[in-house]
Amino acid sequence: MNNRPVELEVTNLCKYYDAGKKRKLKAVDDVSFVIHKGETMGIVGESGCGKTTCGKTCIGMIPRTSGEVKYQGKDVHTMSKKERFDFSGKVQMIFQDPYASLDPHQKVYDIVAEGIRIHHLAKDKAEEERMVLELLDMVGLNAEHAMRNVHEFSGGQRQRIGIARALSVNPEFLFCDEPISALDVSIQAQIINLLIKLQKERDLTMLFIAHDLSMVKHISDRIGVMYLGNMVELSPSSELYKKPLHPYTQALLSAVPIADPKTSRERKKIMLSGDVPSPVNPPAGCRFSGRCNKCMDICSKEKPELREVEPGHFVACHLYNK
Ligand SMILES: Nc1ncnc2c1ncn2[C@@H]1O[C@H](COP(=O)(O)OP(=O)(O)OP(=O)(O)O)[C@@H](O)[C@H]1O
Ligand SMILES: [Mg+2]
Repeated sequence: MNNRPVELEVTNLCKYYDAGKKRKLKAVDDVSFVIHKGETMGIVGESGCGKTTCGKTCIGMIPRTSGEVKYQGKDVHTMSKKERFDFSGKVQMIFQDPYASLDPHQKVYDIVAEGIRIHHLAKDKAEEERMVLELLDMVGLNAEHAMRNVHEFSGGQRQRIGIARALSVNPEFLFCDEPISALDVSIQAQIINLLIKLQKERDLTMLFIAHDLSMVKHISDRIGVMYLGNMVELSPSSELYKKPLHPYTQALLSAVPIADPKTSRERKKIMLSGDVPSPVNPPAGCRFSGRCNKCMDICSKEKPELREVEPGHFVACHLYNK
């Protein structure tokens, strides 16, 4: 168990979008979790399940519909202008697409220096330069790269620039939205390892979003599994891999390639039937019931609560209701 203070506390968070004709698209629906100082929490789930919306609402990038998000005890959605400015120095983002998130015509130096300037972190030009070069060095780039334009860099290098930019203001919290999905597989592990190293060195707290469970395992202390706007399982990473409880998590895990051929042969691949239903008209009861291979009568009628069934291991599934 983590005894460090709670850094981010999310309570009954909802984010609905207007879907016309008085209908609501429930992108995030009643999600609660906490992240402790120095901890990395992963969120996984299929495309459209609400991961990005959840993350962005958690750091106040987009307004919430209801519920509460507290960062170091302060409500993220009701901050004053001054509090918001301080918050923007503490919380940074790394985006999925390093091609879209960095201006290709800007110099690497200026991208990394921008946050230092906004937050007045350097006393003079010489200190600013020292800080930028140190940041580039930290992410595996050098002084020669600083004066080049972003468009001259590969995807992996751009993501390193994005990481240097995020770290430039000395943040305490990083929200990483699929930071490796747009990269070649060979580069993905490099970026993950870099993030793990930086997280340790700087005692960062992280919310790390990923599509699948293969990479997120290495970086996350705990993992939340989302399905159609709901958190359906939440558990320490190792526990989730050893003993996934929710049939959806089991299906997701069965699709992760395993290096060991013996384990790989023993593990049956569970195919998910049907598409993810629309979040505009989510199914009654458990939202996964229509695709679940263990569906019971109650599942299409009553929505299961997220309950702690083993210490630290939460699941929202009627199979575990005693
Ligand atoms: N600005 C918006 N306006 C209306 N609907 C939106 C908006 N942003 C997201 N949505 C909808 O909210 C749901 C959740 O989207 P979100 O981007 O959070 O999913 P995601 O899990 O991050 O998916 P992906 O893995 O593809 O990035 C989707 O149905 C999406 O279409
Ligand atoms: Mg997303």
